[in-house]
Amino acid sequence: MRRSVVLVLILLFSLVGVAVYEGGAVAQQRKKDADCFASKCHDKMGTDKFVHGPVAVGDCKACHVPTDKHKFATIKNVGQLCYKCHDKVNTKKDVHKPVRDGNCTKCHDPHQSPYKYQLRADGKNLCFMCHDKKIAEGKFVHGPVAVGGCPMCHNPHQTDYPKLLNASGNNVCFACHTDKAEAFKGKKFIHKPVADNCVNCHSPHAADYKYNLKADGRMDLCLGCHKDKKEWIEKVKVKHGGLSTDKKCLACHDPHVSDYAKQLIKPPVELCLSCHDKPLDTPDGKIMNMKDYLAKNKYKHGPIKQGDCSSCHNTHGSDNFRILRKYFPPLFYAPFDPKNYQLCFSCHEKTLVLDPRTTTLTNFRNGDVNLHYLHVNKPDKGRTCRACHDAHATNNPKHIRDSVPFGAWALPIGYQKTDTGGSCSPGCHQTFRYDRNNPVKNR
Ligand code: HEC
Ligand code: HEC
Ligand code: HEC
Ligand code: HEC
Ligand code: HEC
Ligand code: HEC
Ligand code: HEC
Ligand code: HEC
Ligand code: HEC
Ligand code: HEC
Ligand code: HEC
Ligand code: HEC
Ligand code: HEC
Repeated sequence: MRRSVVLVLILLFSLVGVAVYEGGAVAQQRKKDADCFASKCHDKMGTDKFVHGPVAVGDCKACHVPTDKHKFATIKNVGQLCYKCHDKVNTKKDVHKPVRDGNCTKCHDPHQSPYKYQLRADGKNLCFMCHDKKIAEGKFVHGPVAVGGCPMCHNPHQTDYPKLLNASGNNVCFACHTDKAEAFKGKKFIHKPVADNCVNCHSPHAADYKYNLKADGRMDLCLGCHKDKKEWIEKVKVKHGGLSTDKKCLACHDPHVSDYAKQLIKPPVELCLSCHDKPLDTPDGKIMNMKDYLAKNKYKHGPIKQGDCSSCHNTHGSDNFRILRKYFPPLFYAPFDPKNYQLCFSCHEKTLVLDPRTTTLTNFRNGDVNLHYLHVNKPDKGRTCRACHDAHATNNPKHIRDSVPFGAWALPIGYQKTDTGGSCSPGCHQTFRYDRNNPVKNR
């Protein structure tokens, strides 16, 4: 019993002894520079929350070299002084100016401070001692800036990347936005400015537009770089309503990445039909529900089969009727001029309507009488292609319409195809037949 008490006491005494000895070293050091602490002048030294190592142990002379009894040489090169005990922080490619100049004490108090690392201010306030606060002002402040985390992206001393950034290019952003890094991976197309640098569009600090964008991301931002589009959209006579929905450019384009060419958010036809799934009003009258129409008509025109509405329509608007890329007459009759059919003839041979007689240029002939020529090539009331064909899809072969709009009427065409010709029973004349091998005599 007694022996164990003694043992415990011995143990306790030895622990206290060690503590006394350790405290003694500091006390001794403090005593060494006792003058400094004792004097009313420096008695506050070492009392802040964060005290620098050598100050904590009272080693004033580690830095201050006495020249006389109480005279100290001014410290000329602070940087060099700090590097006596600390690793150099000016060896990388980009060194912060005050660090390069050895002005460590602009940011660190050499003695003590209420802030960690004896900093002279906390968080962004430290940076704002020299940098303009405006950098973090705006209607939308980026998360890490709002919480003062400048060092989350910048190293206060030095880095191997420009602008003191902790990582190169977009890796700065991906360090936190790991979901975006994942989502962007493996996409077929990446918008060039995104591959180049997120900050082409987003401010890393703060901005007046949603998502810290440098301008309204739905259109103004885009037009800032796509100047040709800005000009085009302003000048065209027939505007496309698709551009003026609430989402503007983003109704069709993804600003970052896409699996479809031209940054489209969906495969092209699907994209058009996502809005054209109902009749819509235009300055030139109501237009049909194209989705429904295509679903109901089995023979799709070549370009539509290829998924390409844009070969005929310019989605961003056009000077032509129905935002067509090339001129196409909006009416049933037009005096013949090959220029009228630029749209069709950008893919088909215009010779189709040029020669009255042919055995090669077209299948729409009676013997060698070119019926395309006959109908279309007239100085006054030439029938336009629309009189017989539909550019999108039909249930008759050769894209012949069931009926054709003629004023307030829908004239039926009544087309029948045969192996060597065909016939029609339109509203405008009796049934006519044509046959390429054995020309028919219609009355
Ligand atoms: C790590 C180095 C370092 C240590 C240790 C240190 N100082 Fe300093 N001290 C400096 C630097 C750097 C300056 C500013 C440079 C200058 O003006 O010469 C400074 C300035 C001073 C000044 C001038 C007034 C002021 O606060 O700027 C006094 C007084 C002072 N120190 C006292 C002390 C005392 C007392 C101790 C010991 C408790 C001490 N220092 C320990 C680096 C140190
Ligand atoms: C005589 C040696 C010596 C000199 C000179 C010296 N320091 Fe220190 N410094 C120390 C010691 C010892 C510590 C405490 C180390 C620890 O806690 O890990 C320290 C700690 C620090 C810390 C805090 C590090 C941490 O991880 O908490 C900073 C910041 C610092 N010093 C900056 C400076 C600056 C700036 C200068 C020049 C003005 C300087 N030091 C000069 C010895 C020195
Ligand atoms: C522009 C302000 C600024 C200047 C100038 C500056 N520092 Fe720092 N220093 C900081 C900040 C901020 C931190 C805290 C970093 C963190 O939070 O990771 C820091 C941390 C430190 C640390 C402790 C953490 C570490 O990286 O080991 C040391 C040591 C240090 N600085 C030394 C120096 C020396 C030496 C100099 C001068 C050559 C210097 N600093 C100049 C802002 C500065
Ligand atoms: C003591 C003043 C001072 C403090 C404090 C300060 N800086 Fe600087 N900083 C400068 C100076 C000077 C430059 C150089 C400006 C120039 O070249 O126009 C600079 C440049 C920069 C640059 C641009 C670097 C480059 O390569 O172009 C960044 C980024 C920066 N500082 C970030 C910070 C951050 C973050 C903080 C806070 C942790 C901070 N600064 C605190 C003085 C300071
Ligand atoms: C989310 C990361 C991030 C945060 C947090 C951040 N920055 Fe930046 N900072 C950047 C990037 C990226 C750039 C480069 C911008 C560029 O190249 O246009 C930059 C550039 C700068 C510049 C140089 C400006 C110039 O025009 O060259 C300064 C100064 C700066 N930041 C200071 C700060 C300050 C101060 C804070 C804290 C209030 C801060 N940064 C917080 C990412 C950040
Ligand atoms: C240190 C982590 C960090 C880094 C680095 C970072 N961010 Fe952020 N970012 C955040 C946080 C936190 C939010 C706020 C998230 C929220 O409000 O849902 C945010 C929000 C955003 C938003 C708005 C998202 C929204 O849904 O409102 C955008 C845009 C953004 N960051 C872009 C960037 C870009 C560009 C970079 C690179 C220059 C970057 N971030 C770097 C942490 C970071
Ligand atoms: C060409 C301009 C542009 C570039 C470059 C860009 N963004 Fe964006 N970003 C936008 C637009 C526009 C929006 C708004 C999207 C919306 O309203 O649906 C946005 C939204 C965001 C959002 C918030 C909404 C969301 O989709 O989650 C984040 C986060 C974001 N971007 C991160 C990034 C990152 C990370 C990079 C770099 C890899 C980057 N952005 C590059 C234009 C851009
Ligand atoms: C910072 C400038 C910039 C901004 C802002 C910008 N773009 Fe771009 N965009 C480009 C560049 C550069 C290209 C590549 C041009 C090239 O390769 O000829 C491009 C290409 C495109 C392409 C064609 C892609 C392809 O595969 O050919 C589309 C579509 C596009 N941008 C749409 C947009 C939209 C929509 C916005 C707004 C959300 C936008 N851009 C904002 C610079 C920008
Ligand atoms: C209604 C859908 C839609 C909207 C809205 C839209 N686009 Fe497009 N855009 C397309 C389609 C489809 C293509 C690909 C076919 C083509 O080249 O015309 C395209 C192609 C592009 C291209 C690359 C090819 C080229 O023509 O230079 C750019 C750049 C572009 N768009 C920018 C914009 C901008 C900027 C806006 C907003 C002002 C916008 N787009 C709005 C559908 C749209
Ligand atoms: C975001 C919805 C939206 C998308 C996507 C869209 N459109 Fe439209 N489109 C409209 C609206 C609304 C109108 C009616 C207003 C107007 O333009 O006159 C319209 C009108 C049209 C017109 C008639 C224009 C006129 O005034 O004569 C054509 C042709 C057209 N769209 C073709 C397309 C094609 C081709 C695509 C796919 C590349 C497409 N649209 C994608 C919304 C859209
Ligand atoms: C081969 C050329 C061509 C292609 C490809 C084409 N269009 Fe058209 N589109 C036209 C022509 C020509 C008109 C005018 C027709 C008329 O008024 O008779 C038109 C008219 C329209 C109209 C207005 C219809 C109406 O009711 O007046 C819409 C909507 C339209 N197209 C959407 C589309 C969509 C969506 C696609 C792709 C699925 C597409 N177009 C592909 C040539 C084309
Ligand atoms: C962008 C190119 C393009 C444009 C513009 C175009 N077509 Fe076509 N057209 C095609 C392709 C491709 C085919 C399919 C050819 C095939 O299947 O051999 C085709 C097929 C046809 C056919 C059926 C031919 C057959 O032998 O089955 C007719 C009729 C036709 N187009 C009429 C027109 C009319 C009328 C116009 C103008 C409104 C027009 N096309 C504009 C590309 C175009
Ligand atoms: C009066 C009705 C009519 C008009 C108007 C008409 N077509 Fe045709 N087209 C036909 C018929 C019928 C066929 C089918 C011939 C066959 O294969 O038996 C045809 C076939 C075609 C073909 C398939 C190749 C061929 O010649 O056999 C093309 C391409 C074509 N037309 C384009 C046009 C273009 C472009 C216009 C306007 C310039 C036009 N058509 C005007 C009735 C017409």
